[in-house]
Amino acid sequence: MTVLVTGGAGYIGSHTVRMLRDQGRNVVVLDTLEYGYRQALLGAELVVGDIHDRALVTEVCRSHNVTQVVHFAAYKSVGESMEQPERYWINNIGGTVELVEAMLAAGVRDIVFSSSCSVNGTPTEVPVTELAAVAPESVYAESKAMVEKILYWYGVTKGLRSVSLRYFNAAGASSDALIGEDWARSMNLIPLVMKAALGRAPAVMVFGTDYPTADGTCIRDYIHIDDLADAHIKSLAYLAGLAGLTAQQQAGSAISLNVGTGVGSSVFDVIHATERISGITVPYEVGPRRAGDAVATYADPALIQATLGWQPIHTLDDIIASAWRWHSTHLDGYGD
Ligand code: WQD
Repeated sequence: MTVLVTGGAGYIGSHTVRMLRDQGRNVVVLDTLEYGYRQALLGAELVVGDIHDRALVTEVCRSHNVTQVVHFAAYKSVGESMEQPERYWINNIGGTVELVEAMLAAGVRDIVFSSSCSVNGTPTEVPVTELAAVAPESVYAESKAMVEKILYWYGVTKGLRSVSLRYFNAAGASSDALIGEDWARSMNLIPLVMKAALGRAPAVMVFGTDYPTADGTCIRDYIHIDDLADAHIKSLAYLAGLAGLTAQQQAGSAISLNVGTGVGSSVFDVIHATERISGITVPYEVGPRRAGDAVATYADPALIQATLGWQPIHTLDDIIASAWRWHSTHLDGYGD
C-alpha cells in the first residue's frame, strides 16, 4: 500500500511526504523537478516525470501497489496565469484529467487534491465557509475550481473518491529547519519579510495601510505547513473509510474543505511577530494597495474539523519562528 504524491518535491508536497513517511507510510513521488527540489524529499523515492504521461503514471501505480494519491503537481502563480493562461489549462486541468485516467486504469480511486481558498475570489463574508460562492478572479483560481468540479463528476461517473483541500495562506517550515520554502521563487508575504529581515532584499513593501482593519493592513489566515500536511493525511484516512460504503453511497461523495485556522492576522502582525522572534527590526515601506487584494479573508474551519477531526495546532508565532529558523539557516534556499 503506497501513496503516490504528485508534485511531492514542492513546498507543501515535501512536508506532506515527510509526515507520511514519519508515520510509516510507503510513498512514491512523481515530480518533473521544474519547480521542485530533490533535496526537499529527504531521500523519499522519486520518479522524475509528468502527470500527463498516462503510461508512466499507470505503471508507477501498478509497480508500487499505489492505493491513494495526493495531487499537488500544478502551476501556482496568479500573475503568470493571466499572462499565459494556456499553461494553466494544459497543466492544472489537462494534467489532472490524465492523472485521474491513469489512476483509474490502475484501479486507484482515492485522491486528495491541492485546491485553494482563491476559488472564492474576494469573499463577501468572513469567516469563509464552504458554502461561499465559487467565484474565481484569476485563471489560476479558475483552474482549481474546475478541477474540483471534474473530480466531482469523476466521482459520479467512475466512482472516484476525492477530497479537495482549499488552502488559505500556507506558511512556515519544518520545526527542525530541515525543509522549508525556497524563497527564490516565492512572492508571498512571509518569505519576503524574512528576506528583508536578513538583508537579502530591500525593505518589504506593505501593500496599503488604509484598509478598514484595526491597524489598516490586510488580514489573512496563515496556516502552518505541518498543520496543512496533517490535513492531507487525515483526508487519506477519511477516503479509506469511504471504501466500506456501497457504490451508490460513494457516488458524488467528493468534498471540498477549507483548510485554515479561523484566526486572521494582519501584515503588521506578521512583521511585528518577526521582529519579536528574530530580534531584528524589519525594514519596511508603506506602498499603495495591491490590485485585487481582499481586505480580510480567513477560514471557518468547522467543516474540516467535523469531517476529518483535523485541528491546527500551530500559532502565528510558531509559523514565524519556524520560517525564521529555516530562512536564517538557508540563505540560498536549497541552493545551499
Ligand atoms: C499576503 C498579505 C498582501 C506581499 C496567496 C495566493 C492565493 C492563496 C493564498 C493558494 C496580503 C500582503 C504581500 C508584499 C504585502 N493560495 N503583502 N507586501 O495574496 O493572500 O494569497 O495565498 O492558492 O491564491 O495568491 O498571499 O502572501 O501574496 O499576501 O503587504 O510584498 O500580505 O497584500 O494582504 P495572498 P500573499
